[in-house]
Amino acid sequence: MDDYILKTHGLSRYFAGVKALDNVSLSIRRGEVHAICGENGAGKSTLIKLLTGANVPVSGTIEFEGIVYTKLEPRQAMNLGITVIYQEFSLIPYLSVAENIFLGREIHNYGIRNVKKMNKDAQALCDRMGVKIDIHARICDLGVAYQEIVEILKAVSQQSKFIIMDEPTAPLTLNETEIFFGIIKKLKENNTTIVFISHRLEEVFDICDRVTVLCDGKFVTTQDVANINKKQLISFMVGRELAEDYPVPANAPSAPVFEAKNLSSLFVHNASFALRQGEILGFSGLVGAGRTELARIIFGVDKKTGGNMLYRGKPYNPASPRDALADGIGLIPEDRKNQGIIQGLSVKDNIVYSALKNHAKYTVINRSSERETVDMYIRDLNIRTPSRLQLIRNLSGGNQQKVVLAKMLATNCDILIFDEPTRGIDVGAKQEIYHLMCQFIDMGKSIIMISSEMPELIGMSHRILVMSGGKICGELQRHEFSQETILEMASSNLFKEGA
Ligand SMILES: Nc1ncnc2c1ncn2[C@@H]1O[C@H](COP(=O)(O)OP(=O)(O)OP(=O)(O)O)[C@@H](O)[C@H]1O
Ligand SMILES: [Mg+2]
Repeated sequence: MDDYILKTHGLSRYFAGVKALDNVSLSIRRGEVHAICGENGAGKSTLIKLLTGANVPVSGTIEFEGIVYTKLEPRQAMNLGITVIYQEFSLIPYLSVAENIFLGREIHNYGIRNVKKMNKDAQALCDRMGVKIDIHARICDLGVAYQEIVEILKAVSQQSKFIIMDEPTAPLTLNETEIFFGIIKKLKENNTTIVFISHRLEEVFDICDRVTVLCDGKFVTTQDVANINKKQLISFMVGRELAEDYPVPANAPSAPVFEAKNLSSLFVHNASFALRQGEILGFSGLVGAGRTELARIIFGVDKKTGGNMLYRGKPYNPASPRDALADGIGLIPEDRKNQGIIQGLSVKDNIVYSALKNHAKYTVINRSSERETVDMYIRDLNIRTPSRLQLIRNLSGGNQQKVVLAKMLATNCDILIFDEPTRGIDVGAKQEIYHLMCQFIDMGKSIIMISSEMPELIGMSHRILVMSGGKICGELQRHEFSQETILEMASSNLFKEGA
């Protein structure tokens, strides 16, 4: 007989005008890795909030290990052994790995913190989980993948039986992915149950046993991963088949519109390249390769320490993002939550905020053109919102991302820098974003695209520059693109420097 650790019975949660979760009944087996998939706004995070007590259902029940609850309190969920690992980690950067694992539950000896015992226990835990990590290292000195692993170790040390991972999308290198998968395997051996939310469908097929699909807050299906393929999963999610190929940009790039010569900062060393009109120039590299830092110099966020930039053949030296925008260069930041949106404003105001000057004539704002623009993006990017007046903080994570994209597309920029354009965005909307990128360059504008998603980088770029250790270490033309070549280039510098 199947051993179910968790079942929901007709679980619902409504917000004004939105059925975020609508009568959902699903079952999770003990010890399985269970994926929850669905488009942006499908109700995944809402479901998780009900399971961890961050929110309460309006109707329905949660059955955990045979006991039925009408709602859970956060502490109660924790005591039951339910833990969630969010994308924003709750680790303290300047504390050690061991200290973070025992954070809030420090081991004391007669009122004094027993550091020795904590270190010993932390080491034993790492050994048991097969993780090779220096338990004395500070969190801020670790890569994102290892930070995620510390979060998981922390959950394991709290005796969690049921670990939920909401979009653990940290771009992992091949080696790190292996470590991550190894940990998940170990957790399974210990009979820990894992619920896994991700828009990266490859991950679902790599590590999950079963998958449940939600759509518009409703349960669609639960399937054994072994019995379906990616195409079928997508059609469960979006209710139709979706072509997975990339739109081919119609035009060929022409003369250089932007040039960097020996550009340097604290993190970027002598970067030289040219971006052509009508070009999508991809930037590849491992986390920390200096791609975001390079983008920040071009957008006037960080100061350069050396080299120079030319824009339309003239020296370009933005003192601030406002300068860059005024010149027609825009950036869609990687960290959209903190840099891209104003939580207290509506969807409409967030979109038109940077673009106001396009809608103003002699400082009179043209309200109807403003509304038209906003509605066009809501439609094209399929932004799930009851209206353009909804506060952005009430939108799902992915839909907030789409608003940031819309906001930058609505400005009249000639060069747009996309930093991880489709992170957290569902399969359907990804396609729309690629089409909008093509439209953008068809108008003779240019794009710099930084991405950790190798297929999209290869599918969309005219050329790819590879960065490593703050340097541009390779350039590939379209006919030379391959995942292996890019990875090799991206890590070559590291090996040289480490040797
Ligand atoms: N506090 C709130 N007020 C109003 N609506 C809300 C609130 N929280 C969530 N919603 C709405 O509920 C729906 C489901 O949101 P949820 O965050 O669960 O989606 P999701 O599946 O996690 O999406 P994503 O993939 O984008 O993270 C969305 O339409 C969202 O706008
Ligand atoms: Mg979510």
